[in-house]
Amino acid sequence: MSSITDFRRDFDIFGSGEYVYFDNAATSQRPRQVLDAVSNFYKTTNANPLRGLYDWSMDATKEYEDARKTVADFVGAVSSEEIIFTRNTTESINLVAYSYGLDNVSKGDEIVISVMEHHSNILPWQMVARKNGAKLVYLEPDDEGVISRQEYESKITDRTKIVAIGHVSNVMGITNPVKEITSYAHSKGAVVVVDGAQSAPHMKVDVTDIGCDFFAFSGHKMMAPMGIGALYGRKELLENMSPFLTGGEMIEYVTRQDATYAELPHKFEAGTVNAGDAVGLAEAIRYIEKVGFDRIEEQEKKLTALLMDGLSKMPYIKVYGSKDPTKHCGIVTFTMEGVHPHDMASVLNDDKICIRAGHHCAQPLMQFIGAGSTARASVYFYNTEEEVERFLDRLSSVREVMGYGA
Ligand SMILES: Cc1ncc(COP(=O)(O)O)c(C=O)c1O
Repeated sequence: MSSITDFRRDFDIFGSGEYVYFDNAATSQRPRQVLDAVSNFYKTTNANPLRGLYDWSMDATKEYEDARKTVADFVGAVSSEEIIFTRNTTESINLVAYSYGLDNVSKGDEIVISVMEHHSNILPWQMVARKNGAKLVYLEPDDEGVISRQEYESKITDRTKIVAIGHVSNVMGITNPVKEITSYAHSKGAVVVVDGAQSAPHMKVDVTDIGCDFFAFSGHKMMAPMGIGALYGRKELLENMSPFLTGGEMIEYVTRQDATYAELPHKFEAGTVNAGDAVGLAEAIRYIEKVGFDRIEEQEKKLTALLMDGLSKMPYIKVYGSKDPTKHCGIVTFTMEGVHPHDMASVLNDDKICIRAGHHCAQPLMQFIGAGSTARASVYFYNTEEEVERFLDRLSSVREVMGYGA
C-alpha cells in the first residue's frame, strides 16, 4: 500500500520540498494523475460535448457524463441527474439563491444562516432577502465554534424558508451538525442548503444520510482543476426550479417568443460545458478514494495536533475555535499579540512558508470574534510533520523579526 510519502511524490509542485504549503483551505494542490487526465481529454477526445454526432463529440459527452456519475457516487446522490456541474461553490449557491430562493421566499419570511459562513454563503442570501423583503437570521457559535441545539432550535421557526449552513467552517475548522440541523429545519418546512466547500475534500459526505436539499462544493479544494464545482440538488426540487442561466445547451425547443427547457441536469448547464475539468474532478475523486478518507483524516489530525501543541507553547498566540485538534478539519486560525497577520505571513513567506492572512472571506465572523484579521494554517493529507516543525520554528522567531526581542 502506498504511504503518504508515496502520494506526495505525485505532486510535482512540491519538488524538493523548498515550499511549505499550508493554505489548503484556499485551494489544494493537484497530483499528476489529475493534470494528466485533463490533458488527455484535450489530447484525445476534445470536441464540444452534448452536440456532435461524431465520435470525438460522443466520446467527450461520455467522459463528461461518466464524471457526473463519479461525482454523484462520491456524495451519495441517488441519481446523477441530481448533480449540476458549476464553476465552484459560489456559483452553486448562487444557482440555488436565484433559481429557488427568489421564487420561494416572500416578504416576512426568514432565511437562517450562521455567522461563520464564507461570504459565498452570505451574499446570495442577502440578495434574496433584499429583493423579496425577507429577513436574514444568524446562528451564532459558542467559543469553541459549536452551534448548539438550543441555538438552532430557537432561530429556525415556522417563518424559516431556507437554512444555508457551512458543513465545515473555513476559519474555525469546526464541523457543524448539518444532519441534525437539516432534520429540525425540515420539521419546520424549510429547505436546507449545505456549503460543503471545506468538507468534501476531507471527509466522506453522504447527502442522502445528511438529508439536505442542496449541497455545494468546489473541485479546486479537493485536487481538481480550478473552474469546476458541483451542486447536488434533490431531484423534485430541481425539477420545479427555473433555470439559473439561459442560452444554448439547456433547451428542449425554442421559438421566436418562447422556449422549453432540457431535462435535468442540463436545464442548469447553459452554454458549452467544462468537460475537461469535470474529467479532472472525476480523477481527483478517484485519487481521494485511493488515498482513503481514513488516511486523509488520520494524517490531518496528526498534523493539527502537532500544530496546536506547538502554538500552545507560544504564550503570545491565540488560537480560535475548539481546543481539541480533532475538531479542526486541518484548519488552525490564530493571532499573534502585537503582530499583524499580514506581517506574520510575509515573514513566513521569506522562508517559503505559505499561510493565509486576512479575513478569509468571513467578515461577519471576524466581527463576531473581535479580530479584524487572523492568520490561518491549513493542512491536507500530503503535508508532513517536518513541515509543521519548520513552520513552528519559523513562527517562533516572527516576534523577534518584528522587533520584540527574543
Ligand atoms: C466554506 C467555504 N465556502 C465557500 C467557499 C467559496 O469557494 P469558491 O471560491 O471555490 O467558490 C469557500 C472558499 O474558500 C469556503 O471555504
